[in-house]
Amino acid sequence: MPKSLTAHTGMDALTHAVEAYVASQRSPFSDPLAMHAIVMIKDNLVKSYNGDKAAREQMHYAQCLAGMAFSNALLGITHSIAHKTGAVFHIPHGCANAIYLPYVIQYNAKECKERYAQIAKTLGLSGNSDDELVTSLVEMIRDLNRNMDIPLSLKGYGVSEEDFRANVKSIAHNAVLDACTGSNPRTIDDAAMERVLEYIYEGKDIDF
Ligand SMILES: [Fe+2]
Repeated sequence: MPKSLTAHTGMDALTHAVEAYVASQRSPFSDPLAMHAIVMIKDNLVKSYNGDKAAREQMHYAQCLAGMAFSNALLGITHSIAHKTGAVFHIPHGCANAIYLPYVIQYNAKECKERYAQIAKTLGLSGNSDDELVTSLVEMIRDLNRNMDIPLSLKGYGVSEEDFRANVKSIAHNAVLDACTGSNPRTIDDAAMERVLEYIYEGKDIDF
C-alpha cells in the first residue's frame, strides 16, 4: 500500500473520531468509541506509516471504531470543507481533512474547548488550562502531518493564489450547505466560512 494512502486514510479516521467527539449529535454511546479510536490512532498511525504491521492491524480496528462513532454522532465542518475543496482542487479526502482539522479545532474551540481539552488530557498532552491543552492537541495533529509528509495549508498543498481566489466564495457557500455542517458544534455562515478558508490557505491560526 502506498505510504500516502496510509497517511491520508489514517488522518481521515482521526478526523472522524475528533469530529464525532465534539459533534452536536454526540452521546454517551459515541463518546467512548471516538475517544478510544483517537488514542489508538495517536499510538499507531505513524508506526503503521513506517511499515509496522502490528500497528497497521491496530489502525484497522481504530478506523472501524471511529466509523461507529461518527455513524452515530455525525461529523463537522472539517468534512464539509474537505468535500467541497476536494471537488474543486482534487485533494484526496483524507489529506484534505488532515490539513483542515487543526484550523477547525481552533474555530470550534470558542464553543467547546473543554471537549478538545478532554481529548488532549486523555492523550497525556501538556497544558495547565483548557486553552493550553487545545493548543497541544492542534500541535500534535500538525506533528502527525509533518511526520507523514502532509502539508499544513492549502498554499502548501500547491493550490495557486489565482485558483483559490477564483473559487473561494463558491466553496464557502457550498461547504455551509454540506450535510456535515449541521452537526458542527459551532454555527457558521458563508462569510465566516470564507474567512476560515482564507486562514487555511495562508496557514494562519484561526483567531476569531
Ligand atoms: Fe472522512
